[in-house]
Amino acid sequence: MKILVVGTGYVGLVTGACFAEMGHEVTCLDIDEDKIAKLKEGIVPIFEPGLAELVQRNAEAGRLYFTTDYAEAIVSNSICFLALPTPSAPDGSCDIRYILSAAQEIAMQMQEYKLIVVKSTVQVGTCAEVKKSITEILKNRHLDIPFDLVSNPEFLKEGSAVADCMKPDRIILGVENARAEKLMRELYASFTLNHDRIFSMDIASAELTKYAANAMLATRISFMNELAGLCEKVGANIHAVRVGIGSDTRIGYQFLYAGAGFGGSCFPKDLRALIATAKHADYATPLLQAVEQVNEKQKQLLSKKISHYFATRGGLKGKTIALWGLSFKPDTDDIREAPSLALIDALQKEGAKLRLFDPVAIPAAQKTLTNSHEHIWCQDEYEAAAGADAIVLVTEWKQFRFVDFSEIRKQMEGNAFFDGRNQYKPDEMHAKGFEYFGIGTSKT
Ligand SMILES: NC(=O)c1ccc[n+]([C@@H]2O[C@H](COP(=O)([O-])OP(=O)(O)OC[C@H]3O[C@@H](n4cnc5c(N)ncnc54)[C@H](O)[C@@H]3O)[C@@H](O)[C@H]2O)c1
Repeated sequence: MKILVVGTGYVGLVTGACFAEMGHEVTCLDIDEDKIAKLKEGIVPIFEPGLAELVQRNAEAGRLYFTTDYAEAIVSNSICFLALPTPSAPDGSCDIRYILSAAQEIAMQMQEYKLIVVKSTVQVGTCAEVKKSITEILKNRHLDIPFDLVSNPEFLKEGSAVADCMKPDRIILGVENARAEKLMRELYASFTLNHDRIFSMDIASAELTKYAANAMLATRISFMNELAGLCEKVGANIHAVRVGIGSDTRIGYQFLYAGAGFGGSCFPKDLRALIATAKHADYATPLLQAVEQVNEKQKQLLSKKISHYFATRGGLKGKTIALWGLSFKPDTDDIREAPSLALIDALQKEGAKLRLFDPVAIPAAQKTLTNSHEHIWCQDEYEAAAGADAIVLVTEWKQFRFVDFSEIRKQMEGNAFFDGRNQYKPDEMHAKGFEYFGIGTSKT
């Protein structure tokens, strides 16, 4: 099939490359000229395991093209995926202006039937708005061209996006008619050969399903973070509690990790959008609001622990703090709404000097942290530790699991270690000479 993917970011590029891998002819379109120029040269502008090889292989095979030219791309492709940003509007709702702008481009150029698939995470009613907008433009063009809209929310996870896309655990299709459903099922057939994982439903339910999934996962994280705080007060250990409840098959072990709060480009904004959707519908969502509040508090927890520790040691001003990990989770360079940003901000406000390291997210962080505050970019975790009064593990990259802590201790000025992801065993860290603070594992 001939497929156009509009928006060549984390979702669009991975989706386009995976469709090409399955033998389809794919054009990836973006308005970012620099990004498209790089992709044409074979340079993949984001870090995602396995993506560079996939893009290179399919571009060389002549199945994957890149363009900024709407006119040409729309005319020659009949299935158009929209993988565009849907950031938070000031009131927390989902800003669909990028979706509408791309849909309008399609409506201006289309000459024959189009299947328009919204892959972005969008609030209920977005597909209906897109349909209305396209219908109006076609009417103004005095054309009666048929088209269908499908909601096909994406569930890939950054860090394992290629694997998730090639082997999806479910494909949600919000459809209005049999023609659209048939085309989508044909398109996805090769991704679900061993058993059917396609669930078709009405468009509003498909749009809401994506928000419901992210809100559920965020709820589990906030639940565990709240319990972690209680563990610290009553002398319990959140590790033990997690294992104890996760072993119940009704609960399971996934997404039960206490930490520095959830971040990234999806959970915070999707939770805000779901709350805004409910508000708009005049429906109270106290549970969702609590999930958000707990997370905001959790994102401040590490800086509070660090500040508390240094309060009896002359204060944070002038102290050197090493941060290990900046991305919102391992295996991605995405730092959007990462807990590291809240931590950096809080520590700098108290006058700390920061030594920052992340295996891949430094270029992304450098674009975001353009303020004049003092921070030093480091080549690895050892360099970051040099002269530090404390180390904070913010993102649990695998390379931090087995570091030479005796070497690290030698490099440091102080001996405090704040483990924002509970990666290390308190007893072992104490034995290695650290004053160790986890989340929900020690009294502070
Ligand atoms: N990133 C994830 O892990 C993930 C997972 C599931 C769903 N989603 C959802 O998918 C959508 C896209 O997210 P993303 O992370 O890929 O975003 P992104 O910011 O990485 O990529 C979006 C791309 O769209 C381009 N763009 C903006 N306006 C355009 C226009 N008018 N025409 C063409 N291109 C345009 C941008 O230049 C950018 O390259 C969002 O709704 C997001 O919530 C993201």
